[in-house]
Amino acid sequence: MNTLYYGENLNWLEAVPDESVDLIYLDPPFNSKATYNILYKSPDGSKDRAQYKAFTDAWSWGAAADEAFRRVMVSGSPAAGILSALHNFMGKSDLMAYLAMMTVRLIEMRRTLTATGSLYLHCDSTASHYLKAMLDAIFGATAFRNEIIWKRSHAHSDGKQGARHFGRVTDTILFYSRGDKPTWNPLHVPYDQSYVDRDYRRVDPDGRRYRLDNIQGPGGAEKGNPYYEVMGVWRHWRYKPARMQELIDAGRIVQTRPGAVPQYKRYLDEMPGVPLQNLWDDLPVLNNRSKEVLGYPTQKPLALLERIISASSNPSDLVLDPFCGCGTAIEAAQKLGRRWIGMDITVLAVDVVERRLINSFSVKRGTDYEVKGVPVSIEGARRLAMDDPHEFQLWALTLVDGQPRNGGKKGSDGGVDGVVFYQDTANSVGQAIVSVKGGGNVGPTDVRDLIGTMNNQGAKLGAFLTLTAPTPKMLKTAAEAGSVEAGGRPRQRVQIRTIEELLQPNRAGRLDLPPVYDIISAISAARRVHKAPKKVSAEAARKEPQMKLPIKGGKADAQKAMDLNEPLLVSERPRRTRKAG
Ligand SMILES: C[S@@+](CC[C@H](N)C(=O)[O-])C[C@H]1O[C@@H](n2cnc3c(N)ncnc32)[C@H](O)[C@@H]1O
Repeated sequence: MNTLYYGENLNWLEAVPDESVDLIYLDPPFNSKATYNILYKSPDGSKDRAQYKAFTDAWSWGAAADEAFRRVMVSGSPAAGILSALHNFMGKSDLMAYLAMMTVRLIEMRRTLTATGSLYLHCDSTASHYLKAMLDAIFGATAFRNEIIWKRSHAHSDGKQGARHFGRVTDTILFYSRGDKPTWNPLHVPYDQSYVDRDYRRVDPDGRRYRLDNIQGPGGAEKGNPYYEVMGVWRHWRYKPARMQELIDAGRIVQTRPGAVPQYKRYLDEMPGVPLQNLWDDLPVLNNRSKEVLGYPTQKPLALLERIISASSNPSDLVLDPFCGCGTAIEAAQKLGRRWIGMDITVLAVDVVERRLINSFSVKRGTDYEVKGVPVSIEGARRLAMDDPHEFQLWALTLVDGQPRNGGKKGSDGGVDGVVFYQDTANSVGQAIVSVKGGGNVGPTDVRDLIGTMNNQGAKLGAFLTLTAPTPKMLKTAAEAGSVEAGGRPRQRVQIRTIEELLQPNRAGRLDLPPVYDIISAISAARRVHKAPKKVSAEAARKEPQMKLPIKGGKADAQKAMDLNEPLLVSERPRRTRKAG
């Protein structure tokens, strides 16, 4: 079944059987030392664009790099020789760590590819030259198919920042295949308009553009082309007489004037276009206004992944993205009828992918795909809290459709681990403050802290999520905070939920909140609010006086939230079954 894996991809890759994957696309960290933040938006479009550090794309030398290096050395792969030579040259640098970590994973990936499988490695100029050398060693130099240059952004000038180099607007995608007959579906792009204008100048009465092509047999008699008469002209023709007659009957052979050599009428709309080359500068560039943008850093356009998947796989083939981020490759694979596997080390990424899939395809966890590595039971939750308290906190927030705040740390906001946006009245969005506790030592003071933060921030509602059961005193403190009207009816101001309750099937133990916005519905609501006011021409305004004011957008509209019936509001999260986590 299609599977999303949360965790270190090297571990999960080891569990993927040999020769089972038809296509791998990987977009790993680039080693550019950048820090990538998820951008969360408030559904009411207010200026609050919270950021949360998703990952840093630098790998530094340490125990993991040492182990990766050791594993490559004993792998028997020719990559060991190159890695060892580079190690002599670079020592235990960050770049060396990056290469060791990538090489050990690439060796695993090749193992999983079928004989007709291909791999596309997305990188930039920081390390593409070293990665290519590694791939040549791992796959063999004859397995190299293309270096694809993808234009990721419009021209920009870094000059103001003091840069003394040309604008960097491209990424590199290295395309290798496991065998010499990889799955291949040639792709075409539309002809250049100047070519169409020059070569397809002729137009039929019904508007169809065509050109006239030579139908004489190349090589003449020597190549065995038949010699006969067509429309009064004797030549060696490309077609046998019977086929020529069919084309004449279909009106496809024309003579521009009596005695001229007949030619073939080639229609533009029957041509596939120009075969796609390795320079990809024709795809839409993602920006903040793009409809598909989810706030996930390094998100790639769907069109890019659709192109790769269409070219190098067939329907029902298995596509693997071991660094799937917000899941562009997964969405493209699902859309194109491929099976898929996605992996990511960030629980936030896995959560966004799942929401993205549910939103776009109405798929169901357990039926259409499964998620591995994310806790589905209280034991799994305890393990995560122990292994990685920070990831536990992020994961707990996903259970209530929350967005992390404050980088998960206590700071000026004191006690805010996250917020949940909800539709309060038809025209206003509320924020519930969330506090997450993964340790055993919780008491009424923690609940009072949350109430204090709610009061400071003017939040009507607060949620206290805890791994251990609340004490009677905590429940009393929460009850004393009373209730408040939210979303049209009174609700308890401070709601305590255990992780076990939140994991109940069918969300039986969920918070009592009005309809909430998750990361995806919040972003689309914010986008709607920010839509430019509709321009009304003077003439239209004169004819329809009621249209003089903008219909939507502009400052007056900033607090206007979406209609309560808006389908993007989160009403259903995937069912969580009680299995060992
Ligand atoms: C450049 S982003 C991928 C973006 C993705 N192509 C998209 O369209 O959203 C790289 C991703 O790799 C993940 N990652 C980094 N190291 C990893 C590892 N060792 N195992 C699994 N995922 C990892 C990061 O969390 C990040 O989401």
